[in-house]
Amino acid sequence: MNQFGSFKNPTQITYGSGVIQQLRSIIEDQDFKNILIITDQGIRKTGLIERVISQIGNLNYAIFDETQPNPTVTNCEDALRTLKQIHADVVVAMGGGSSIDVAKAVCALATNEGSIIDYEGIDKCPNDPLPLIAIPTTAGTASEVTTFTVITDEERQYKLTVGGIKLAPKWALVDPEVTKTLPPHITASTGLDALVHAVESYTSKMANPISKALARESIRKISSNLRQAVYSGDNMVARDHMIMGSLLAGLAFNNTRLGNCHALSHPVSAIYGVPHGVANSILIPHVMKFNSYAVPELFSDIAEDMGENLDGLSLMERAETAVNAVKRLSEDIGIPTTLSDFNVDESRLDQMTRDALLSGNIAVNPRTTTYEDVIELYKKSIGGVKVEAI
Ligand SMILES: NC(=O)c1ccc[n+]([C@@H]2O[C@H](COP(=O)([O-])OP(=O)(O)OC[C@H]3O[C@@H](n4cnc5c(N)ncnc54)[C@H](O)[C@@H]3O)[C@@H](O)[C@H]2O)c1
Ligand SMILES: [Fe+2]
Repeated sequence: MNQFGSFKNPTQITYGSGVIQQLRSIIEDQDFKNILIITDQGIRKTGLIERVISQIGNLNYAIFDETQPNPTVTNCEDALRTLKQIHADVVVAMGGGSSIDVAKAVCALATNEGSIIDYEGIDKCPNDPLPLIAIPTTAGTASEVTTFTVITDEERQYKLTVGGIKLAPKWALVDPEVTKTLPPHITASTGLDALVHAVESYTSKMANPISKALARESIRKISSNLRQAVYSGDNMVARDHMIMGSLLAGLAFNNTRLGNCHALSHPVSAIYGVPHGVANSILIPHVMKFNSYAVPELFSDIAEDMGENLDGLSLMERAETAVNAVKRLSEDIGIPTTLSDFNVDESRLDQMTRDALLSGNIAVNPRTTTYEDVIELYKKSIGGVKVEAI
């Protein structure tokens, strides 16, 4: 019997080409008066923000565009100051996971005292945050529908997660058009991050029939469209499948959490500044191989969804095919394959491992994971050694 508690999606999702234009009707219907737009300088340069401003009309607004990749506690404090200056009653986040995550934190801090660090964990914010409208510009994190924000505490060099149903954006306007300006290398790493979300959600101990269906469709869409989106960025069919694939994975992992790959990638990003999608892309083949012994049947499903020919293969060979298919995809789209390419070495292995083990994603990973296992996974990912059994 398939029994699970409940499936949550607190965000109203509007999807399709041009839906960014619905921003105006949300603002009018809700009678919002003062608007803080949160974004980053990369997005600013594309001119995409003009599409938001054109929807705001004559209302009062300010733009915070200092969001960094792997956004920081300081980013949240600075954005909060701007929010208070204009007495914002709504926040519009336009950007990738970084901008949307800062916006989630700032909406929470607008109504809850203190620093975002005080709210690490699940359901720690007592008051309802300010309403948030999220417009994702990467087909990657799906932060537009998730109940988490991931912020780097610069002092501890630690990525902390603040979660809870209240943190979810009230509205997500998911418009494939805004992903057209993504350069190939960001399309590649954010797209592979979305695939990792689907793979980790599908194999999570918390997976349920709804999350599994979403994750499998996400795997099918991403694995058959990511190469085209990278090498032919104006292919809107591929862009459309990619952002839908990312969204489906987000709806899935919001209910299942992720796994070892995300647990291990956060310390790498916090300490060495490796972009989130790149860290995951390097780690994932090693983590999949490690997990394939625990749930080969699930990895066989993933190989099937990636369109691999599985005729005549044993169960373990089919699981191995999934590992190789993800590795090949990552190589085809030009993502580096070792953490040492980003100056990650073994000098901080103990700290990285202890931080990784604090993640709630370790507990739902399909294979029980020890301190020694994490060390081995890091060593393989740093050195770029062959993907092999641990
Ligand atoms: N909240 C969640 O549920 C969740 C889930 C996964 C990851 N994350 C977090 O999200 C962050 C990563 O977000 P991301 O991978 O989306 O990248 P990002 O938001 O850091 O953006 C990466 C780069 O892409 C540029 N960019 C984004 N959209 C663009 C566009 N349309 N055109 C041109 N340039 C564009 C940005 O300017 C930036 O330089 C990490 O901090 C990660 O931990 C959050
Ligand atoms: Fe991710």
